Amino acid sequence: MRDFDEKNITRAVIDRFKNTPDPRLKTIMTSLVDHLHDFVRDVELTFDEWYFAIDFLTHTGQISSRSRQEFILLSDTLGISMLVDAINHRMPAGATATTVQGPFYVENPPEFPQGFDISRGLKGEKLFVQANVSSAGDGPLADAVIDVWQSDTDGFYDVQRPDLSEPTLRARFRADSQGRLHFWSILPSPYPIPNDGPVGQMLAATARHPWRPAHLHFMISAAGHEKLITHVFVQGDRYLDSDAVFGVKDSLVREYTHEPAGVAPDGTKMTSDWRKLQYDFGLKRLA
Ligand code: BEZ
Ligand code: FE
Repeated sequence: MRDFDEKNITRAVIDRFKNTPDPRLKTIMTSLVDHLHDFVRDVELTFDEWYFAIDFLTHTGQISSRSRQEFILLSDTLGISMLVDAINHRMPAGATATTVQGPFYVENPPEFPQGFDISRGLKGEKLFVQANVSSAGDGPLADAVIDVWQSDTDGFYDVQRPDLSEPTLRARFRADSQGRLHFWSILPSPYPIPNDGPVGQMLAATARHPWRPAHLHFMISAAGHEKLITHVFVQGDRYLDSDAVFGVKDSLVREYTHEPAGVAPDGTKMTSDWRKLQYDFGLKRLA
């Protein structure tokens, strides 16, 4: 077949995939071509726009490295990451909602005993975190492995701060025999996602801001359960309804309560005000 026009070319390209041995790959390629062709027809893409898109994607690749994944950031800011998350995490009652992992997780963070202060003396409002980990709709998960990471008071993660010589505001903890966890930190701050590359250009060109509301990241693993990747957002944050990566869910927003000077739940004597977060996590049992 030849002489393709703007209508029949789509069917011709799809036919070219008819011998794809893997049925899932065939479904994906067929749908991809179908939707991409419809998109090009819908906006009547010009050659200038086509070149611009090629250049944009080329830069997205070129700026990516082991420590920077601009394609995931693009996926995040287009809502693709949260859409994939929603499709793949249809959770049972009692299971905690999931959200994006983000680029600032570091594998195998240092493990600390409960009660450790992960801020390691950084300035900020002192925060006491108390959590329970259980199997969704069932009992506590003893020994669950809980990785936490967060931004500092100025909105930076430790990996963005060359002045820090050790992992800071990140740690691995282990739940106790009742599935309980407590540790100290400081209040996280809102921050802009990396916006000095193509994704930043896209946000600026479309009058979108790059900010994420303040949150604490949790990654929780327990035998026989799906790994839970989520955040707990700070209630009242001004960016909760305009998160640059569409990651906010109501069930993940909590008050980080103001507490007066006195004795904290772990017996620490506090000479000034502090904040407290309490959250109960439910993990989905593996099928
Ligand atoms: C984060 O929460 O760390 C994050 C998530 C998505 C994009 C950028 C940052
Ligand atoms: Fe984050």
